[in-house]
Amino acid sequence: MGWFPWLCQLLCLLLFSLDFQANFSSSLSPSPTPPQCSDFESAALLQFKGTFSINNASAYLCNFVGTKSYPKTNSWMEGTDCCRWKGVVCDSASGHVIGIDLSCSWLYGAITSNSSLFLLRHLQRLNLAYNDFRGSNISPEFGGFASLTHLNLSSSGFSGKIPYSSISQLSTLVSIDLTVRNYGLLQVEEHTLRGLVQNLTKVRVLVLNGVNISAVDPGSLMNLSSSLISLSLNNCGLRGRFPQNIFHLPNLRMLSLSGNRDLSGYLPKTNWSGPLVSLSLWSTSFSGELPDSIGNLESLTYLDLAASTFSGSVPRSLGNLSQLIYLDLCANGFTGHISFSLAKLTQLDHLSLCSNQLVGLIPDQVSLFHKISFLDLAYNFLNGTLPTWLYSHSALEFLYLQGNNFTGQIKEFQQKSLVYIYLGNNKLQGPTPNSIVELVNLTKLSLESNNLSGIVELDMFSKLQNLQVLDLSSNNLSVKSNIDVNYTLPNLFMLFLSSCKLRDFPKFVIALTNLNRLDLSNNGIHGMIPKWLGNVGKNSLSYLNLSNNFLTYLEEIPWNQMQILDLHSNLLQGKLPFLPPTTTFFSISNNSLSGGISSQICNVSFLSILDLSRNNLGGTIPQCLVNFSAYLSVLNLKMNKFYGIIPFSFANDCGLKYINFNGNQLEGRLPPSMAGCRYMEVLDLGNNKINDTFPQWLETLPELQVLVLRSNQLHGFIHGCKSAHCFSKLQILDLSNNDFTGPLPSEYIANLKSMRNQRRNDGSLQYLRDIGSYGYTYDYSVVVAIKGFDRELVKISAIFISIDLSNNKFEGEISTDFGKLISIRGLNLSHNSLNGHIPQSIGNLTVLEWLDLSSNKLVGKIPMQMVDLTSLSFLNLSYNQLVGPIPQGNQFNTFENGSFEGNLDLCGFPLNKACSGNENQQSPSNDSDSEYGFGWKVVLLGYGCGFVFGVAVGYLVIVTRKPKWLGTLVDW
Ligand SMILES: *[C@@H]1O[C@H](CO)[C@@H](O)[C@H](O)[C@H]1NC(C)=O
Ligand SMILES: *[C@@H]1O[C@H](CO)[C@@H](O)[C@H](O)[C@H]1NC(C)=O
Ligand SMILES: *[C@@H]1O[C@H](CO)[C@@H](O)[C@H](O)[C@H]1NC(C)=O
Repeated sequence: MGWFPWLCQLLCLLLFSLDFQANFSSSLSPSPTPPQCSDFESAALLQFKGTFSINNASAYLCNFVGTKSYPKTNSWMEGTDCCRWKGVVCDSASGHVIGIDLSCSWLYGAITSNSSLFLLRHLQRLNLAYNDFRGSNISPEFGGFASLTHLNLSSSGFSGKIPYSSISQLSTLVSIDLTVRNYGLLQVEEHTLRGLVQNLTKVRVLVLNGVNISAVDPGSLMNLSSSLISLSLNNCGLRGRFPQNIFHLPNLRMLSLSGNRDLSGYLPKTNWSGPLVSLSLWSTSFSGELPDSIGNLESLTYLDLAASTFSGSVPRSLGNLSQLIYLDLCANGFTGHISFSLAKLTQLDHLSLCSNQLVGLIPDQVSLFHKISFLDLAYNFLNGTLPTWLYSHSALEFLYLQGNNFTGQIKEFQQKSLVYIYLGNNKLQGPTPNSIVELVNLTKLSLESNNLSGIVELDMFSKLQNLQVLDLSSNNLSVKSNIDVNYTLPNLFMLFLSSCKLRDFPKFVIALTNLNRLDLSNNGIHGMIPKWLGNVGKNSLSYLNLSNNFLTYLEEIPWNQMQILDLHSNLLQGKLPFLPPTTTFFSISNNSLSGGISSQICNVSFLSILDLSRNNLGGTIPQCLVNFSAYLSVLNLKMNKFYGIIPFSFANDCGLKYINFNGNQLEGRLPPSMAGCRYMEVLDLGNNKINDTFPQWLETLPELQVLVLRSNQLHGFIHGCKSAHCFSKLQILDLSNNDFTGPLPSEYIANLKSMRNQRRNDGSLQYLRDIGSYGYTYDYSVVVAIKGFDRELVKISAIFISIDLSNNKFEGEISTDFGKLISIRGLNLSHNSLNGHIPQSIGNLTVLEWLDLSSNKLVGKIPMQMVDLTSLSFLNLSYNQLVGPIPQGNQFNTFENGSFEGNLDLCGFPLNKACSGNENQQSPSNDSDSEYGFGWKVVLLGYGCGFVFGVAVGYLVIVTRKPKWLGTLVDW
C-alpha cells in the first residue's frame, strides 16, 4: 500500500520532534575547546567496528522508509578523534561518548555479550536500526547502560527471548524501539514485560512491532507510564482484552495496535479527549460502536480502524476532526448513511469506507470533500446516481465505487486528475463517456458488470498511454476494434472483455506485447485461434480465458509463462495440446477433442486443476497422472471415452481433492492406493464398468463429502466402520444401480454425522470448491438423481444432502437410524428387496424433499408421523405391500395415485378406495412394469402439487445445458 511510507513520514516527524524536545542540547551547545575522545572509548569503538563486515543487503529497508544508508563506520579511523566520527556524539564537557547512531550502516555480524560496545558505559543514545546482526540475542549486558535514554534496535536481525534482566533495568529509558521484521523473531514473556512496565517510569516512546507478546496478558500494559507519548505494538500476537485506560493516558499522541487479530477491546464512550494524533487498530478484534466522544480528539490526523469488527453508524461527530487527513474504516460492520458531516473534513485526503453495509447516497455538493484524493466506498449498499463533484473534483485521483447499487449514467469528466476508476458491479447505464479518453493519467479503468450499452471503439483508448488495466466485461456493450492498428498501449497488462459481443479476436490486442491477463470469454468469437495471438504476451501472458466462444482449433499453446488457461465450452477439435510447464490451471472441458492423454502432461509439475471433461478423449489414463505432483487437486475426466483400469499408483502424498471419472468405460477394481488422497472431498466414479466389492478403505478418507459410485458393477455385502472417520463428513452418497446385496449399510448410516446436524440455509450459501492459491475458484460439480431425474449440480451447496441406494439387491429392514439424518433432503431406497415396516422415525426428517421407497417388499401401515414431512414434494411408495389408511393432511393432500399404487391394500385419499372398518385382503396388482417401475409415469405422478411448506430450492444450481465453472480472479 502506497500509504505506508506516508505513515512512516508522519510518525518519523512525530518522533523526530520528540527527539528534539529531549536532550542532546548538551552536545549542541558550543564549547570553546571540546575535549577529545578518550583512548579507551576510541579503542572500544574500533574494536566494535572490527566485529562486522559491510554488507548492503539491509539497505533496501532504509530506502523503504526514505532514509539514506551508507557504511558510517568507514570514517572510523585509528588516530583520529572519535568524537568527529560519523554517528558518534561526545559529551561536550567530559568528552565521553554519549551517543551512537549507526542506523542504516550496512553492518553485518553478531553482537555478543562480550562486545566492546558494552564498555561504553556513558551512552545515552544508541541507535543500531536497519543493520543485520544475524540473529544475535539481546544480551543482558544492555542492562548495564545506566544512563541510556534512547534505544533503537529495530529491524536489525535480533532474535530470541528478551532476557528478564536487561532492558527493564534501564529505568532512565525514554524511547525504545525493538521492531522486528518477521513476527516472533523476538519474544517477551509475561514477567519480563511486567518488569519493563513497572521500571520504565519515564518511557515516552515504546515500539515493539512484530515482537511476540502472545504469552502476555494485555492487562499488564495497564500500568504503563503516564508519560507515554507513543505506543506501537503492531503484529505482536496480543490476545485478550486491551486495557481501556491506555486511551486516557494524558500525553498519548500515537497508538498503534494493528495486526493483533485476537486483541479485543472497545473505544472509550465517555471522557475521551487528549492529544491523540494517530490511532491505528487495523486488523484487530476491537468492536462496538465508534463513540461520539471520538469527535473530541481535536488533534487526530490519522485514523485507521479497517478490518476490525466495529459496528453501528459512523458518528456525525467525526466531522469535528478538522485535522483529519487519513480515515480508513473499511471491512467492518458499519451501517447507516454516510454522514454529511464527513464531507466537511477540509483536510481529508484519504477516505476509505469500503466493505461495510452503508446505504443511501453519496453526499452531493461541489464544495464537499475538499482535498480528497483517495476515495474508496466500494462494496457497500450505496445507491442513487454518482455525485456530480466526482466529475469536476480536481484533486481526486483514486476512485473506488465498485460493488454498490449506483444507477444512472456516467457523465462526462471535467477534470484530468483521475488515475484509477473502479465502477464495476453497479447498475450504471448508458454509454461510456467520451471524456474518459481525456484522462491522461488514467492507469486503471474498470467498468465491468454494469448495464452500460452502446458501441465502444477500442481505438479510442489509444490516447491513454498510461493505461494498465481495462475491464469492460459483462455489460451490454458492443466492443469493436479496427482492422488496422497503428498504435500501441505499452503499459496495458490486463484486458478483460468478457461478454462484449465480440465476433472476432480484436486486432487491438495484436499490439499489446506485454499483456499479462486476457479475458475474451463469453463472446461469439468464431474459428481458429489465430497464430498472432501466440505473439501477444508470448513471454508475459499468464492468464487467458477464451471460454464460451465458438473456437474450433488451437494448434499449440505458445505462451511460455501461462498459468491459468481456460478454453472450456468451445468447439475445439484435434488433439489435447501440450501445456507449458508453468501451467497451474487448465480447463478445456466441453469441447470435441479426441485422441488420448500423453504422459507429457506429467511434466507440468505445478498443475493444480486439470479439467478435460466432456470431450471425446479416449485411451487409457496414464499412470503418472495420479502421482506426478502433490499440487494436483482437481482431476476431472468426466464424460469421455477412457477405458482400461483406473491408475493404481496414487502417491502417498496425493493432494487430490476432487476426482471425477464419471461417464467413461473404466473397468477393473478400485485402487486401494487412492486411500493416500487424504484431502479428498469429492469422488465420482459413476457410470463406468467398475467391478469390485465395496471399497471399505474409502471410509478412512477424513474429508470425503461426496461419494458417487452409481451405475457400475459393484457387488457384495457392505459392512464396515472400522476407521475413526467412517464417512462422518459425507453429504452425498450415491451407490445406486449396482449389485450390492445383504442388509443396508446401517453402520455407515449411523455414522453420517454431517447429515445428523442441523444445517441452516441462512442465505450465505457455502459451496464445495477449490480455492487455489493462484487466484481462481474451481466449483466442484457432480451428477445426482433428484426426484427421479439426473441433474448436474454445477455447484454443490453445503446443504445439498442426499442418499441414493436404489436399484441394488439390498434386503432386510430400514433401520430407524435413517430418522436421525435430520438434514437430509433426498432419500432413495427404491428397487431393492427391503422388507419390514417403514420406520416411524422417518417423520423426523423435516427438510426431506424427496423420498422414494418404491418397488420393495415393505409391509404394514404408512406411519402417521410422515405427515410431519412438511418439505416433501416428491413421494413414491408404490409397489410395496403396504396396507391401511394413507395419512391425511399437509403434503399428503398433494400426492396423487401414482405415489401409492401397486400396494397390497391401501385406502383413503388420493386412492379411490375409501377406508372402511374391515379391509379385505387384495392381491397386489401385478402391473407389467412393476419390476422396473421407474418409468416416467411413476416419477411424474410422484410429484406433489407444489404445496410446500419448507421452501428450500435456493441451494440448487443446476444447468442441464452447458456446465460452467467460474474462474474468478481474486486479486488484481
Ligand atoms: C527494576 O529496576 C531495578 C533498579 O534499576 C532493578 O534492580 C530491577 O532488577 C529491575 N527489574 C527488572 C525486572 O529488571
Ligand atoms: C441492490 O438493490 C437490490 C434491490 O433493488 C437489492 O436486492 C440488492 O441487494 C442491492 N445490492 C447491493 C449491492 O446493494
Ligand atoms: C436507495 O436504497 C434505499 C434502501 O436502502 C431505498 O429506500 C431508496 O429508495 C434507494 N434510492 C434510490 C435512489 O434508488
